[in-house]
Amino acid sequence: QHQNQKAYGLALCRGDVLAAECKTCVSEAPKEILSRCPYNKGGIIWYDYCMFRYLDTDFLGKIDNTNKFYMWNLKNVSDPATFNYKTRELLSQLAQKTYVMNNKLYATGEVKLENSETLYGLTQCTRDLSSSDCKKCLDDAINELPNCCDDKEGGRVVSGSCNFRYEIYFFVKE
Ligand SMILES: *[C@@H]1O[C@H](CO)[C@@H](O)[C@H](O)[C@H]1NC(C)=O
Repeated sequence: QHQNQKAYGLALCRGDVLAAECKTCVSEAPKEILSRCPYNKGGIIWYDYCMFRYLDTDFLGKIDNTNKFYMWNLKNVSDPATFNYKTRELLSQLAQKTYVMNNKLYATGEVKLENSETLYGLTQCTRDLSSSDCKKCLDDAINELPNCCDDKEGGRVVSGSCNFRYEIYFFVKE
């Protein structure tokens, strides 16, 4: 290692995760990332409860457009048009809550569906983003809905700077 070598790191816990769980997750993440990619200049790892990212250049305060993945529930909904609309609407409302009213850059919420089910959603940005970059990051993520999650009972778009998740079951802790 060179003496002047610098590393920049960023950790983010899901907004509802308790401090102790957050600490456990965030302390495991660097160990795991270094054992999986020991010689890399940077890396990123995601868990349900936290994310950890590092790089040898300063990436803080910039939207990460490189690292992104989707996850979705394999089950199809019975009424895709309404469901997709409601999902987008909920996530857009939560995104707005995330960057406008919330200094945690995190929001959760729910909406009732016609069939007496409930749709639950979560949106979050990393805390290094400005409010306007948080908005841009989440808007872009929500625009990925047709590519990842339309017609699906649950889905996530996860990037190094923001993420959303929706499910028809309760998955947050509050
Ligand atoms: C959901 O719908 C897609 C597209 O119509 C289909 O390919 C897939 O097999 C369906 N999945 C399930 C679990 O029924």
